[in-house]
Amino acid sequence: MTVTGHGHGHEQGHGHRQDRGHKQDHGHGHGHGHGDIDWAVMAPVLEQNAEVTAPVYREVAAWLRDVRTVHGGGAAERGDDPALIVDAGSGPGVVSCLLAEAFPASRVIAADPEEALLARAAARATRLGLADRVGTHRAELPGGLGELAPADLIWAARSVHHVGDQVAALTALAERLAPGGVLAVLEGGLAPRSLPRDFGVGRPGLQARLDAANEEWFARMRADLPGAKETTEHWPALLTAAGLRHVATRSFLLDLPAPLDDAARAHVVATFERYREFAAAPDSTAGLAPDDLAALDRLLDPQDEESLHRRADLYLLTAHTVHVATAR
Ligand SMILES: C[S@@+](CC[C@H](N)C(=O)[O-])C[C@H]1O[C@@H](n2cnc3c(N)ncnc32)[C@H](O)[C@@H]1O
Repeated sequence: MTVTGHGHGHEQGHGHRQDRGHKQDHGHGHGHGHGDIDWAVMAPVLEQNAEVTAPVYREVAAWLRDVRTVHGGGAAERGDDPALIVDAGSGPGVVSCLLAEAFPASRVIAADPEEALLARAAARATRLGLADRVGTHRAELPGGLGELAPADLIWAARSVHHVGDQVAALTALAERLAPGGVLAVLEGGLAPRSLPRDFGVGRPGLQARLDAANEEWFARMRADLPGAKETTEHWPALLTAAGLRHVATRSFLLDLPAPLDDAARAHVVATFERYREFAAAPDSTAGLAPDDLAALDRLLDPQDEESLHRRADLYLLTAHTVHVATAR
């Protein structure tokens, strides 16, 4: 398996199918064509990432409550919880469950094309005692949400960029909003930083070069999507074009200073492992210089005193941007 790392401050890495070009023949039930990412393999990484980012999601949820009070209609203005929340492209449902906790009167549907991820979402909801309010629905944007009741809040985090036609995806989401409903799209932000510019191994500035490599991967990932269309990613304008009223954009900082706890450290290690595997892929265009690859190897070697596993200076600083629009 080939995997890769962050992108645009919004990717936390992707299991990358090795059988590139043969995915329709692959017997893992993923041949429905949304790139060559093996989401089932990615599940633990997505979970770990979302769990480490939980403080941000709680802050976002509190902000969404305020946005609904100011800009939503009817029940929202009275401060009531949204009756139905849809988490579109929910992955393993970590955020679906956080939303259910933040809005204790809401019903939440975790919607995703991947059965394996939905199964994890359902198991998590059961584990957390939320199964009566958190359900799952198999759906692949831009279609797929049509059978659901209109939603009062739709949350789409890092999922729209996995759809070939992002405009069609946003339009489909907009169409599923109840009157006065709110669509919140998490896309973009800032790429994560975890090391000082000069961390004593190799050439300073490694993370900026990893970002550049990841941008290459991201562009290819998008170009390979079925029906891929180039879109200027001006999210407020795209939301307006989807027939909504853009009301706010805000970025949320995840600021975990050194020393990191075990979970955050494991997350950073996993991220760098994906950078390394991506750079080593036979079809990689990462273009990392040999000294950067050598530095990555040292960072990933648990026996090395300078490795990510052992360093005292490891931190996690990143930002996530949320664009919010309401049904007119
Ligand atoms: C980067 S993950 C984000 C998961 C989750 N929203 C989070 O922030 O943790 C992208 C998710 O989008 C889903 N996805 C991919 N293509 C999709 C599509 N066409 N429609 C809806 N979801 C899609 C994937 O299965 C995956 O769960």
